[in-house]
Amino acid sequence: MKFNKLRYIAPTGTVIKFKELLSFMVDSIRSCDKRQSLSDAIKQKYNVRYCYLMSSGRAAMAILFKLISLNNKDVKRTEIVMPSYTCYSVPAAAQIAGLTVRICDINPETLSYDRQQFESIDFSKVLCITTASLYGYPDDLEYIESIAKKNNCYLLDDSAQSMNAKIGNRYSGSFGDIGIYSLDKGKNITSLQGGIIVTNNDTLNELIENELKELPSPGIFSIFSDILKLSIYSLLINPALYWMPARAPFLGLGKTIYTTDYLYSKYSKHLSNLSYALFNRIDEITEDRKSKYLKIYNALKENRNIKFLSKIDDNTQPAFLRTIIFIKDTDTRDNIIRDLNENGIGATASYPKSIANLDEVKTFSIIHNNISSGGQYVAEHILTLPNITFLSDPDVKKIKNIINTHTDYAH
Ligand SMILES: Cc1ncc(COP(=O)(O)O)c(C=O)c1O
Repeated sequence: MKFNKLRYIAPTGTVIKFKELLSFMVDSIRSCDKRQSLSDAIKQKYNVRYCYLMSSGRAAMAILFKLISLNNKDVKRTEIVMPSYTCYSVPAAAQIAGLTVRICDINPETLSYDRQQFESIDFSKVLCITTASLYGYPDDLEYIESIAKKNNCYLLDDSAQSMNAKIGNRYSGSFGDIGIYSLDKGKNITSLQGGIIVTNNDTLNELIENELKELPSPGIFSIFSDILKLSIYSLLINPALYWMPARAPFLGLGKTIYTTDYLYSKYSKHLSNLSYALFNRIDEITEDRKSKYLKIYNALKENRNIKFLSKIDDNTQPAFLRTIIFIKDTDTRDNIIRDLNENGIGATASYPKSIANLDEVKTFSIIHNNISSGGQYVAEHILTLPNITFLSDPDVKKIKNIINTHTDYAH
């Protein structure tokens, strides 16, 4: 890809203020530990009784799948239901736990389960249902929770990408029995790595607590790498500098690879000094992303040749991690992405395949009713746009011009 400009808006990311970075460094050197304060703040805001921190969301999922499997008294229940379009680390976590994945197709308009497909599942074999709530937009969580309850299945509310999104007065991640959030790069708030588990279930809480206390702590020298990595991140996320990593293909930024090689450790106390500060202003961060979404939406809403994700109703408050649109033709989508990137806008095609089409997943999965066309449609037509603080009005104008030109929309 050619890059003509020395300005590049990252596809997603959290802006870390200079004073936050400085306090994080000072607090880390003073060996402060805000892990308890962070989990208390999460419990209070998201109305959950228990909250645990660890190395990553994917490691959290693998542990949770393993624990619910060990605690399972019904030998018939061996399946984990997953949406056909989700992050590849989700089936990988089920593989680690030795469970069978039942891939259920999604409705490409909402990215949530296709209700007809979902309701045709034989839930007597299902141990756990997962959600995905991608890009900050919660799935039909009330509905999925009701089906899980009716069928006595666990529900793992995967809110890795939807921290702070809400349905009614309930937060994404707090539906069902257990929820996870991610603090990885590109999430609503980030410390470059980190996973959060929440639950209101006393039995699971005891199992999780026992399991997590056995995890090793990050090495004592991690303080140096944490400070270095976060300093670099907070500098490079700036559009005046992000063109550098964006032009370095060997960094593999935004590439999704399938792996079961997870790091299992406690969450770094140093990183909690930053994530606690970011969590304290997560409403402000979410509002900022929403304002960018609205600018893009207003610029493109008249274009009848593109479609926005139709998930925003009066009852739903997304976290707006990215703006999601669908382009009818895959070649046009790919050309738009190329032009936007060449013009300094971090647009992406997100996950290239439905999990149903991943060779690595085939050996331990069943495609429910052999249908995954919804997930594959999304993989071929989705286009993500950045809702990041730095997105300016001229950037939005560029997005509008490029998308309207490629989709033959007169403007
Ligand atoms: C939907 C979803 N679930 C789980 C994860 C795993 O989270 P982590 O990156 O913290 O391992 C991700 C990561 O991108 C994700 O997008």
